[in-house]
Amino acid sequence: MEFTLHSPLDMHLHLRDGAMLETVAPLSAKEFAGALVMPNLVPPITSKEMVKEYKEQILQASQDGRFTPYMTLFFKSEYDYDFLQDVKDTILAIKLYPAGITTNSSDGVDNFSLDALAPTLEAMSELGIPLCVHGETNGFVMDREAEFVPIYERLAKRFPNLTIIMEHITTKEAVEALMCYENLYATITLHHLYITLDDVAGGLLQPHLFCKPIAKRPEDRMALRKVAFMAHEKVMFGSDSAPHPRSKKEAPGCAAGVFTAPVALAALAQIFEEAGVLENLQKFVSDNAQKIYGITPPKKEVRLIKAPFEVPEKFGDVVPMFAGQKLSWRVERVL
Ligand code: DOR
Ligand code: ZN
Repeated sequence: MEFTLHSPLDMHLHLRDGAMLETVAPLSAKEFAGALVMPNLVPPITSKEMVKEYKEQILQASQDGRFTPYMTLFFKSEYDYDFLQDVKDTILAIKLYPAGITTNSSDGVDNFSLDALAPTLEAMSELGIPLCVHGETNGFVMDREAEFVPIYERLAKRFPNLTIIMEHITTKEAVEALMCYENLYATITLHHLYITLDDVAGGLLQPHLFCKPIAKRPEDRMALRKVAFMAHEKVMFGSDSAPHPRSKKEAPGCAAGVFTAPVALAALAQIFEEAGVLENLQKFVSDNAQKIYGITPPKKEVRLIKAPFEVPEKFGDVVPMFAGQKLSWRVERVL
């Protein structure tokens, strides 16, 4: 069996910088036509110059002329209209992190009073710059996303013309909220379609599956699968592929992040085929994102075949999801 994807997109990707960028960028660039690149470097990407320089580094490292890095800025409530107007053409979205919630987010937002955020969000709304949100409170780890839902609702109501993307949703509560507001959209990762907390911590601890937001319950995974498998127009694929060196994962104080970029398309084909909905994968990994963001990625045809794919143990110093395991689909050719 064969299946061709046209210009697949990964709308939430961590590429890092330096040597790690050199290792991981070619892996995404080979199979994807574009990706929304997260700004949580040290220091975070907060100026037009930084965006331009980082984009240049990514293009250099990606070794593929048909890969578009769609850039983001790290949200700061200091951004005013003039700053945003000037930077607008170099970015596709702005990413908001609650302060300290995940890797390299200490400069994030610590005051969610909408009055504090309003000037920046109003300017973004007027300029048509989408807001991507890491939606977790600092409450009990399993409840963080559900507790953040009222904040999403307040944002959606107060800024009805602002496109808000609920990043890497993991709960049925988030799926329900998503359906209630016209200006809410969401990304869903590969790992949250596959795993629950049981896979992370139900047996021996699996550091390579530890991420933020943490994988949740079977009923949450079911809610995600339902909207992903039907390729609901409000959802799109965003891997949240987040490479960390092995020494940071297989360690006390394990860093959060699952590295999925090099296995994403094969594993998506597998799970969509198992669900009997392979024909919906095109919308989930490209068409929906093109509509939501109004983008036209480079043309790239990715041919997948149903044949065993033995996932390498490592890419450089990074262990991917499914390391050493066999997937039932693989990318055969990219045209
Ligand atoms: O698990 C995660 N890793 N979640 C995030 O939100 C950030 C990411 C990273 O940058 O490592
Ligand atoms: Zn992320």
